[in-house]
Amino acid sequence: MMYQKAFYDGFLKGEDFMGAEEIGKKIDELLKKMTLEEKTGQLRQCGPSLVGAFEVSFEELLDMMFDGRISKEEFDRLMGTAKQDFREEDLRAGRIGSYNGIGDAETANRLQKIAVEETRLGIPLLFGYDVIHGFRTVTPIPLAESCAWEDGLWERTARLAAEEATAAGVHMTFAPMADVAKDARWGRVSEGAGEDVLLNAHYGASKVRGFQGKELSAPDAMAACVKHFAAYGAVEAGRDYNRVDLSRQKLYEEYLPAYKACIEAGARAVMPAFNDINGVPCSVNKELLRDILREDWGFDGMTVSDANAIAECVTHGIARDKKDAAKQAILAGMDMDMTSDSYHEELISLVESGEVDEKILDEAVSHILRIKFELGLFEHPYRTGAEREREAFLTPEARKLALEAAEKSIVLLKNDGRILPLKKETRIAVFGSMAESAGENTGAWAVGAHPEECVSLLEGLQNEKADVRFYGENMEQIKEAAESADVLLAVLGEHKEESGEAASRADIGLHAEQLSLFEELVATEKPVIVLLMNGRPLAIPEIARKASAVIEGWQLGTEAGNAYARILFGETNPSGKLTVTFPYSSGQCPMYYAHINTGRPGGKSKFTSKYLDTPLEPVYPFGFGLSYTEFSYDALSVEKSGAGVTIRISVKNVGDIPGEEVVQCYYSRRTAKRVGPVRKLAAYQKLFLEPGETEKVVFELKKEDLGYYDKDMNYVTDLEDMVFYAGTNSQDTLEQAL
Ligand code: GLC
Repeated sequence: MMYQKAFYDGFLKGEDFMGAEEIGKKIDELLKKMTLEEKTGQLRQCGPSLVGAFEVSFEELLDMMFDGRISKEEFDRLMGTAKQDFREEDLRAGRIGSYNGIGDAETANRLQKIAVEETRLGIPLLFGYDVIHGFRTVTPIPLAESCAWEDGLWERTARLAAEEATAAGVHMTFAPMADVAKDARWGRVSEGAGEDVLLNAHYGASKVRGFQGKELSAPDAMAACVKHFAAYGAVEAGRDYNRVDLSRQKLYEEYLPAYKACIEAGARAVMPAFNDINGVPCSVNKELLRDILREDWGFDGMTVSDANAIAECVTHGIARDKKDAAKQAILAGMDMDMTSDSYHEELISLVESGEVDEKILDEAVSHILRIKFELGLFEHPYRTGAEREREAFLTPEARKLALEAAEKSIVLLKNDGRILPLKKETRIAVFGSMAESAGENTGAWAVGAHPEECVSLLEGLQNEKADVRFYGENMEQIKEAAESADVLLAVLGEHKEESGEAASRADIGLHAEQLSLFEELVATEKPVIVLLMNGRPLAIPEIARKASAVIEGWQLGTEAGNAYARILFGETNPSGKLTVTFPYSSGQCPMYYAHINTGRPGGKSKFTSKYLDTPLEPVYPFGFGLSYTEFSYDALSVEKSGAGVTIRISVKNVGDIPGEEVVQCYYSRRTAKRVGPVRKLAAYQKLFLEPGETEKVVFELKKEDLGYYDKDMNYVTDLEDMVFYAGTNSQDTLEQAL
């Protein structure tokens, strides 16, 4: 039965769905019927590999392009003649259980039909894809959206992503990324909620709820696959895929809570990370995948490797060959093999030889079958079709939500002399090629995007009927521009390929040509407003010092240009707050707010912890963001209460326009059994205040959420010697000892 709208609408009325017990029985019945080959097939996820146009593998062809053996043009020509090989024969034989990267209903249904109607047992396929920040309607990259500090917004945009992606046939998204990232050199900082573990926990849990909705077997529900488990954001030197070496205390205090929050929010899948932890790659790390994830946290969903990660355990140097890698991975608790074919090639012989007990295989297969049952794929293998696909994308409501998310992700970093907001009649000269490129706004992993549907900054300004002239990178026209314009708007930052996966940068400053353009603009002595489009914190001391205003515009997706324009003209009051520290120089990386004091904290005297050639403080601290209005804080009170601490503070809008403010609450210990951070985020609340309005904010903190591990890994939750802070960012706070 193919998709029909009536069935879909009926579903959304909330028919009662199969319970866990009934699913367990069905899994057992099915396992009894499955051959060893069919079981192994369920553990195999294939990508639509491009073949037919070239003799080498697609990966090899990519390497040939990257190292210059073939040109980009030649590569693109070959891509144009390639066809997607879905290995239908393997599928018919029951040797494939899942695909990655299928983004249209027709292809998904065609493959599903083969699985359901032409294989011996008719077990439906699972389609996974990287729906990271929207699908056809692109919402802000996660790092940008995290600056909204708004759990409800994060959940709503995830729900939108699920509605669109499931219409395109997706069943599972490889998201949220809950990797705490403290090193701005790491390109994947763009894919998460920044440097703080509490924010990553809230962001990730909100995304899980949004993706999965109320009932996983509803046709617009998408299973969440939290990644990359674990501590991928701690790669040494911010270099992607590098080693991770950290204490157990650091792992448990600063990284694991974010993934755990996603599991507690109901995430049905987990993707182990490429990296090792203290020498054991996550893909074969039994302590991580069985002891912590399943024994300690009670996770009963499925694990799926990262792309080719099982085979790469040979390269890591922990497995002799693919067979050894397959054996170690299945024993460690890795259920599904994404595209390395290690399980496909080796598992049957490992079981037949007795090296791997078939029960271990059955356990992995049962995890995957459970998700397929929970998604309702056995009863309803066709959850979408062309009709639903047409109706689902880029609705007016979707665009409205994308605009709201974009506006709330923007962070106002500087506004000298209140040059912003601009008047509509202001004559604006725009420099920087990214101003006209809608595609730049999609950011990394915008898998369903059609860039032509995105609004560029220039289009956004035109939509606001602004008086704009665009000069691109044309330095010769700077003098003329300065004579005829009131303000110079410079769009600077990074191209979208410069962040995301495999995009680490050793130098996170602006590129030389951008800096010289900026200096030329400043030399005209006309006010220069800088709008940054980037996927990571940048080292921008010159901009911070010499620009009249600085707006952190990130990569905001479909409605980016309209959001920029509405903020520039003050139709929306900026409310974003940084979730990452902006260092002064690349040499300070990793630089983060929750650092240790040391015995010689950086100061004026020589013998203190600092650099000779760089100031101590960041250019912009964690939690920082300005508004077009102003807020004042007073009446902080801190008292023990029941199982924790109650913090109260008054916040007043002392400006003349309404605005939103993120009130942040931090804590520290003056002494403890292990030294701890100078301050750590405990909670936050976002307020909307009319001019003159005051709100009394209360934070009820539980002591078990304020704990830490001592040197023997005992979790300590005493409230001794603590100080609490509350205010507008991680530095500008009122404080009081408990
Ligand atoms: C990539 C990424 C991972 C992504 C996967 C599937 O290598 O590491 O985040 O989900 O492959 O595309």
